[in-house]
Amino acid sequence: MDFFDLVKKRRSVRKFSNENVPDEVILKALKTALLAANSSNLQPWEFYWVRDSKKKKDLVKACFSQNAAKTAQELIVAVSRIDTWKRNRNLILKNYKEKGKLIPIVEKYYNKVIPLSYTHDRIGLLGVLKKILSFFIGIVGLFKPVARGPIFKYDVFEIVTKTTALACQNFMMALVAQGYDSCPMEGFDHKRVKKILNLNSKSHVVMVLGVGKSDPKGVYGERFRIDEDLVIKII
Ligand SMILES: Cc1cc2nc3c(=O)[nH]c(=O)nc-3n(C[C@H](O)[C@H](O)[C@H](O)COP(=O)(O)O)c2cc1C
Repeated sequence: MDFFDLVKKRRSVRKFSNENVPDEVILKALKTALLAANSSNLQPWEFYWVRDSKKKKDLVKACFSQNAAKTAQELIVAVSRIDTWKRNRNLILKNYKEKGKLIPIVEKYYNKVIPLSYTHDRIGLLGVLKKILSFFIGIVGLFKPVARGPIFKYDVFEIVTKTTALACQNFMMALVAQGYDSCPMEGFDHKRVKKILNLNSKSHVVMVLGVGKSDPKGVYGERFRIDEDLVIKII
């Protein structure tokens, strides 16, 4: 199947068959997820493959026992984090150094620009300070393009979540390529999911992904997309 056929073949499956999914299939899809484009290559994602039966049961419940979770053979939780940037930044710089390719502009970017964007304190004081600073940047912005963010912690969450969603798409496409199906879900109680996974406040549950082989009645209806003229704008 070529790429375009795979894209057409992927559907959200709400009822999975009893057929097992081999571990290699999931692992290959997870490794493919990690190849997604991501902001500053900081790879702020985590994927939790929930295999423990008690945790799995709790996770299905936290997904409101919706069919796509209840019938899934495997459940993966995609999480974005605003607190792994320092570790990952150091690994990126180490890799550049080992290859002898660390140039000043890259070093400056990762040691100055990234900390400025990603550092946040618990109560949000830094966000307020950045907001005040952004007023002055806004004045400069009247005359030329300027970097206007991220300012608050939720702006950083937007960055890491955007990136993690791209990885989720890679994951789903890698499953289709191997003959398996999935359903992305945001219908869940995020507090309960975080408790199951023991996650802190610097993490965000982006999606829960149900995986399996579709039941013959697993896709609920024909695919519908609104008219492309409404959403593709050529200006
Ligand atoms: C972020 C996100 C959250 C979603 N949440 C749910 C969900 O909780 N339950 C569900 O059955 N489908 C969920 N879906 C699937 C969408 O309903 C589905 O992608 C959409 O209707 C288009 O259908 P298709 O995926 O078959 O093309 C979600 C999809 C995305 C991308």
